[in-house]
Formats: sequence, structure tokens, C-alpha cells
Amino acid sequence: MMERPLTVLAIETSCDETAAALVRGRTVLSNVLHSQSIHRPYGGVVPELASRAHLQLIVPVVRQALVEAGCTMDDVDAIAVTAQPGLIGSLLVGVNFAKGLALRYRLPVVPINHLEGHIFSGLLEEPELGFPFLALVVSGGHTALFWVESFQHVRLLGSTRDDAAGEAFDKVASLLGLGYPGGPAIDRLAAKGNPAAFALPRALLQDATFDFSFSGLKTAVRGLLQKRFHKGPPEEVLPDICASVQAAIVEVLVQKTIRAARLYHAPAIVVAGGVSANSALRRQIQEATARLGIRVVLPRISYCLDNAAMIGLVAHEKLRFGGIHRFQRLIVTASPTPLRASPKSTAKSRVKETRETTLSA
Ligand code: KG4
Ligand code: ZN
Repeated sequence: MMERPLTVLAIETSCDETAAALVRGRTVLSNVLHSQSIHRPYGGVVPELASRAHLQLIVPVVRQALVEAGCTMDDVDAIAVTAQPGLIGSLLVGVNFAKGLALRYRLPVVPINHLEGHIFSGLLEEPELGFPFLALVVSGGHTALFWVESFQHVRLLGSTRDDAAGEAFDKVASLLGLGYPGGPAIDRLAAKGNPAAFALPRALLQDATFDFSFSGLKTAVRGLLQKRFHKGPPEEVLPDICASVQAAIVEVLVQKTIRAARLYHAPAIVVAGGVSANSALRRQIQEATARLGIRVVLPRISYCLDNAAMIGLVAHEKLRFGGIHRFQRLIVTASPTPLRASPKSTAKSRVKETRETTLSA
């Protein structure tokens, strides 16, 4: 007998996007995303404002996801929710809403790690993508490389020791007075600038580690502004500064990813997270992988940004492998815990003592 694909209502509220999706197997029936704009004047996400906005948005966003999918709660077999990592107040809104719905409709709740969502988001774009593959997750909160052998076996190869790549874009944009989020503004201005105009640091580029470090970049830009443009950078210099900053971030991301791909003989690379919208990153990773004959998957932007479809897809796999009864008891807790890779281990030692990440929520 053919197994009926389960219909999952997925909820994602780990940061400043309120999102809900209906997923049946690997098919996305709807993917509703509300990016909170209230944070713009503050130059970053204000946790208290984020959780309050999630409270206001969660019901309309979930309703819209059901309507767009042409479903009612009677069609839903399970609820998936991001349980970690993220802002605790934001996570709590999604987790408690999911539990409330589950109690009302007697449904199981599947807790999902947000990073697992990003790692497997390539399967939303290309459902037939096989294992293994390398995943670069680059967003405002995370920068990490994973070696993915199956849904159950994911190894963290390296992650940022300080700022995430998106955070670096945002902090530099704030120094340049470009507003929040800064990545899209820097990307736009960089298109008209010279990436070699200013020499900026590429931290850990020559190191064997797959860890990243971007906090020095912001300090270098601050130093540059104080030394050369203490009255504020003239408008005509902005494109050159933006192009130089973007080149510094993208070069490190691409070179480390390609080095890992060669070491692991990766047949495919998935690039996910908000920073994967960056035009230079997309272009350079496509060029580098084409030269090496490696397949690259760059999911569409709505699957790259924080979204609930990726959470639903991972939940569906967990239900398929673990069985629906495992998730009946509603023991789901939100946790802000971030991922950490050991800063001391080198690329070589990581290959030897590869360890699984603590991704399973
Ligand atoms: O994945 P995401 O929506 O949320 C987080 O989980 O952080 O990523 C948002 C981040 C922000 O830091 C934003 O500046 C960055 O992605 N971003 C970009 C671009 N579009 C968004 N960074 C560089 N270039 C872009 N085009
Ligand atoms: Zn994210």
C-alpha cells in the first residue's frame, strides 16, 4: 500500500519573521512570511518588539497559510515548530501557539532546529537532490558549514567565532548610515564600486579551520572612516567602500566552502540563509562550482530567508522516520542555544573526529 504523505502545518518565529506554511511531503502548499519592519529605526532586531509583533501576527499568518493552501485544520496531520535556536521570547510565541493548536485539534507537535531547516531548504527547491552535500548557512544570526550525509547525519565543520556574515553586512551598513537590514543596500551600492578600492581583512582565510570571523571587518571599516572620512564618507566613495566590504566577506565564504567541498569530494553545495541573496556570493559560488563540476543549489529567496516551509519539510522527514506517536506528548520547549564548533580543531582533525551536531531538538 502506498504511504499517504502527511500534511504538516509549520510555524517559524525564531527571530523577526513571523512565518507559517503548509507542506505535504516535499511539496509546499503555501509559504507565508511576514518580515517585521518595526525594527528598522533601531538598526537591528529588538527582541521585546519582535515577540510582541509575533503575538499580533501569528494568528493572521497561520490563517493565511491555511487559506492559500486550500486547507482547514482538519486536513492537518501534525504541527511543526521551530524550537531552537533563536530569541527566546520569539521562540516562545511560536512554540506555545503550536502547543495550543495541538491541544485543540489533538495533533502531534514536532520541534525543529532552525538550522536544520536552512540546511535542508535546498530540498524545497530541488526535491530530488541526493546525499551527501555540503551546506553553507549564511544569515544575520548564523554562518556555518555543514557536511550532510542524511537527514540524521549532519556534521558541523565550522561556524563563526564572533559576528555572522549578515551581521557584518548590517553593522557596516549602520556605520555607513545605510539603515537596516544593511545587506541589500551594500549589495546595491557595491554593483557600482571597485572591490579592490580599500584593503580590508579576510580573517582566518589562510587558516586550515572552517571557522569564520567577521568582527574585525567592522572594526577595520570604523578605522577607515575615522582616518580617511571622519566627517562621514562622501556619497561618491560609498560604492567603493561597499564593494570592498562585500568582496572581503564573499571571498572568505566562497574560498572556505570550496576548500571544504574539495576535501569532502562534495557532489553538491547548498547555500542558504538571507545572505545567499547577495549577488556577488551567488555569482562567485556559481563560477567556482562550475569550474569544479560541482552542482550548486541556491534556493529561491523565499526559501533562503527565515521561512516555515523549510521547518515543515524537516518535520515531515522526522515523522516519516520516527513515527507520528513519538510527538504526541507535547513535550516541546523553546531554547535559545546556539551552535558552537570547537575553535581549536583544524580541518584535518575535524575530518578524523567528525562529530554530529546537536541539531535534533
Ligand atoms: O536569514 P535571514 O532572513 O534572517 C536571519 O536568520 O538572520 O537573513 C537576514 C540577513 C540580514 O543580515 C541581511 O542584511 C542579510 O541577510 N541579507 C543580505 C542580502 N539580503 C539579505 N546580505 C547581503 N546581501 C544581500 N543581498
Ligand atoms: Zn535563519
